[in-house]
Amino acid sequence: MKGPRQVRVRSASGGYTVHVGSGAVELAGEAARRAAPSGRCALVADARVAALWGDRVTGVLAEAGMDVTRAAFPAGEANKTRETWARLTDELLEAGLGRDCCVVALGGGVSGDLAGFVAATYLRGVPVLQIPTTTLAMIDASVGGKTGVDHPAGKNLVGAFHPPCAVLADPCFLDTLPTGRRAEGFAEAVKHGVVADASYARWLAAKAASLLGAEADSVEQAVARSVEIKAEIVSGDEFEAGRRQVLNFGHTVGHALEAASGYALPHGRAVAAGMVAEARIGEEAGVTAPGTADEVAALVRAFGLSARWPASADPTGLAALMSKDKKTRGGVVHVVLLEEVGRVQAAADAAVPVPAAELLRIMQRWGRESD
Ligand SMILES: NC(=O)c1ccc[n+]([C@@H]2O[C@H](COP(=O)([O-])OP(=O)(O)OC[C@H]3O[C@@H](n4cnc5c(N)ncnc54)[C@H](O)[C@@H]3O)[C@@H](O)[C@H]2O)c1
Ligand SMILES: [Zn+2]
Repeated sequence: MKGPRQVRVRSASGGYTVHVGSGAVELAGEAARRAAPSGRCALVADARVAALWGDRVTGVLAEAGMDVTRAAFPAGEANKTRETWARLTDELLEAGLGRDCCVVALGGGVSGDLAGFVAATYLRGVPVLQIPTTTLAMIDASVGGKTGVDHPAGKNLVGAFHPPCAVLADPCFLDTLPTGRRAEGFAEAVKHGVVADASYARWLAAKAASLLGAEADSVEQAVARSVEIKAEIVSGDEFEAGRRQVLNFGHTVGHALEAASGYALPHGRAVAAGMVAEARIGEEAGVTAPGTADEVAALVRAFGLSARWPASADPTGLAALMSKDKKTRGGVVHVVLLEEVGRVQAAADAAVPVPAAELLRIMQRWGRESD
C-alpha cells in the first residue's frame, strides 16, 4: 500500500515535510520522538477535538514511547487569546516540560495558531508538530509558520513566525467534521488555484462533491496541490515582504467582513465573498479580465459558499474597517489584483493601493448584488 505523499517546504530554519494522505497520523510518534530528545510532549487541542481524537493521537504517540501531557482549551476563535496562551503555558510549566520537549498541535487553525505560538515562546521556543484536523488547517493554516493570537483590536495582532518540524495532514480527521465546515477550507484551495494555477481551480470545482464528501483520494490530491502552491510562494518570501502577499487575495475584503460580523462569519466564508469582491475591484480598475469575477463566483458556489456578503454588512463600514487592516500602508488599502483566473498582476509588489473613495464606490456598486 502506498504511504502518504510528502511535500517539502523550504524555510529559513531549514525546512520541513508535510505528509499528506491516509495513514499520515501514524507518523506522529516518530516525528515527535525526533523533535523531542526528552521523549516528552504536550498535546494541545481544543476540547471538542480532544474529545473526538485526543485518545487516538495520544495512543500513536505513546506507542512510540512518548510521555504525553494533554492540555485543552475551549473551542472557538473567541479563545485564541493571550489569556489562553498564558493558561496553556502555565500548564506546560507545571508539568515540568523542559526545552527538550515538543508541542503537538492537534486541531483546526485556532489550535494550530495558538499551540504554535505557545511553542514559539515556551522557554524561548520548542518544536511544534502540526496535526491539522479541518480542511482549512490542512490546506492552509498548518503550513507557512505563522502563529499567534487575536487581540481586542484585531485578529492575529500578536504572534511569531515559528515553522513546524513537520505537518501530518490525514483525511481521516474529516470524517467527524460537518460538511459546511469542510467547505470553508476549500475557499482557501480555490484561492490557491485562482492566484497560481487555473487548471487546479477548475479541477477543484469539478471535484467539489467528492471533496465535500471527504473522499480520501480527492482530499489528498487537493491538500497536496494546495500545499505545493503555498510552499512554493512561501519558500521564496517567508516573512511576507513581497510575493507572499498574493496569498492575501480575497483577504482584505474578507477580514473586513469577518470583523463587521463580530467574527461570527467563519474565515473561509468571508474569504469566498472577499475573493469575488476583489476580482470585481480588479475588473473596475481595468487590470482584471472582464468575466473573471463571475468565474471566481462560480468556483466558490461549487462548494456551496456564497459569493455575496451578508446583507447586514454596509459598504461604508467595510471600507472603514479595511483601512484599519494591519496590511494597510499609511492608511491606504492595498489589494492583490488578478489578471485572470490563475494569474495575479505581475508586479514586484503584489498588492496595489486602492484609494478609499474608489473602494467605497466599487463596494457600493457590487456588494450585495454580486450573486
Ligand atoms: N497560520 C496561518 O497561516 C493561518 C491561515 C489561515 C487561517 N488561520 C487561522 O485559522 C483559524 C480558523 O481555522 P479553522 O476554521 O480550522 O477553525 P477552528 O480551529 O476553530 O475549527 C473549527 C471548529 O471545528 C472543530 N473541529 C476541528 N476539527 C474537527 C474535526 N476533525 N471534527 C469535528 N470538529 C472539528 C473545532 O473544535 C472548531 O469548533 C483562524 O483563527 C485563522 O486566523 C491561520
Ligand atoms: Zn485565509
